[in-house]
Amino acid sequence: MAQAAIDQDAHTDRALDGVLPSLRCPVSGQPLRREGSTLVSLDGRHRYTIADPGIPLFAVRPHLQASRIQQAHYDHIAPEYVRNLVLPHTRIYAAYLDEVLLDAIGADPPGFVGELCCGRGEAFHLLRTLAAGVPAGGIGLDISQAMLKAASGEFPREEFLFIQADATMLPLADEIFDTVFMLGGIHHVNDRDRLFAEIYRVLKPGGRFYFREPVNDFFLWRWLRSVVYRLSPTLDAETERPLRHHQTTAQLTRAGLEVIHWRTCGFLAYCIVMNSDVLLVNRLLRLLPGIRRITRAAARIDDWAVGLPFLRNAGLQVVGVARKPPATSSESPRIRSSRYRSIRPPIPAGVQRPHFGDASELEQPEISATGPSGA
Ligand SMILES: C[S@@+](CC[C@H](N)C(=O)[O-])C[C@H]1O[C@@H](n2cnc3c(N)ncnc32)[C@H](O)[C@@H]1O
Repeated sequence: MAQAAIDQDAHTDRALDGVLPSLRCPVSGQPLRREGSTLVSLDGRHRYTIADPGIPLFAVRPHLQASRIQQAHYDHIAPEYVRNLVLPHTRIYAAYLDEVLLDAIGADPPGFVGELCCGRGEAFHLLRTLAAGVPAGGIGLDISQAMLKAASGEFPREEFLFIQADATMLPLADEIFDTVFMLGGIHHVNDRDRLFAEIYRVLKPGGRFYFREPVNDFFLWRWLRSVVYRLSPTLDAETERPLRHHQTTAQLTRAGLEVIHWRTCGFLAYCIVMNSDVLLVNRLLRLLPGIRRITRAAARIDDWAVGLPFLRNAGLQVVGVARKPPATSSESPRIRSSRYRSIRPPIPAGVQRPHFGDASELEQPEISATGPSGA
């Protein structure tokens, strides 16, 4: 084995051992112990394979249909998805979207970070550039093992652990994160009450939830997306559900989170520059002389447009921040923990319990979907 591979194994091993106390069996909620390349619940009833390179598999066959569609989809398109992100115009426009997110983060130190639907670890990449300091470590979680492999290759440091699991059923202990990020994942999750209840549970009191997602409050985008989602052979309309302001605010509030920031960004240029998955012409833009300069100017115009009072909610993406209220002095962690148990939505009747098999099952996904998404 090459030295680099041995080093990577040692890092992921240490990362896993370091966060083991924060991991829980997603079915029973029990702590886990390690037996070689398996994690076992305390009562010994549930076992989870640790796949190469050190990625525990908690939801090989997820319990929700939407999660299974997404898993098959991203397992299939992961290499192309990662390749598209380095197109010059995509990078430049993404830098504008990142600025909007960094603005929302401001001087808040990230602390211990959870990135849900992390893909190749987009938030972890961004946090490296944070003025308020790099995160004190974190856990990246995604349903797609192929996306996680890409992520773990880019983060060989032991501060970050990547786990395969469903964002609606987190294999994590209560109150472990100072900050949770979701960048382009919420709109793929249909059961948002369950998702936000889980985010509330794993955040420490006073912790923050940052998200950046497609938003559909402007009629033109709503119409355009509904057409594209239905016509595109590469997208699945059932698992592409951009946010709406009133709905999302109500869902977050129901989960106990307080929305403290909502700003839309991205306008006309976004449609052309950021949809390399749907538009072939987008990929060809890289050949256009001066595309970097053009994209920079287009991003500035978009930013100006969504700054106009009558277009304030008309952006294609939203950057939002929700806060978990600080703990009250009369409430002990034990009381809070029992409250989490009572609000954690049960697995709906009739749906399959998560299946905990081995990684080889990923080679035969139940539902096949093709092409990247995130429009
Ligand atoms: C648009 S991608 C964004 C990923 C990341 N922000 C990036 O750019 O690399 C959406 C990600 O959400 C993941 N995902 C979708 N549904 C999920 C679920 N129920 N639980 C966990 N991950 C999920 C997909 O596998 C995919 O990696």
